[in-house]
Amino acid sequence: MEDAKAMAAVCNGCHGPLLSSPLSPPLLHNQPADQLFTKLITYKTGQLEGTLMNRIAKGYSKEQLRAIANVLASTTSPSSTP
Ligand code: HEC
Repeated sequence: MEDAKAMAAVCNGCHGPLLSSPLSPPLLHNQPADQLFTKLITYKTGQLEGTLMNRIAKGYSKEQLRAIANVLASTTSPSSTP
């Protein structure tokens, strides 16, 4: 689980409210885990096209994306994001 938290922290580099990139990606906390996971898989397989997320999602295994989705979904506010 610690690994998943570290991986989710990378996501917050762009998706977090304070460090968000100029692209202003959507905030991820409070989205249900299944919804996040499904989106990540569709990015990974290329069914959903984004500017960056396809490349990012390809860098993780299905199992890792599942774990990351679980961590992000269990985060209730941006400030408590790992
Ligand atoms: C370099 C910045 C960056 C990083 C790092 C990043 N994202 Fe994203 N993310 C984006 C952008 C920009 C979008 C909007 C879609 C696009 O252009 O690819 C997005 C879209 C998404 C979406 C769709 C959100 C929605 O509500 O439609 C999900 C889910 C997502 N990212 C998850 C993640 C996860 C999980 C990680 C960490 C493994 C991550 N992102 C890391 C920039 C980033």
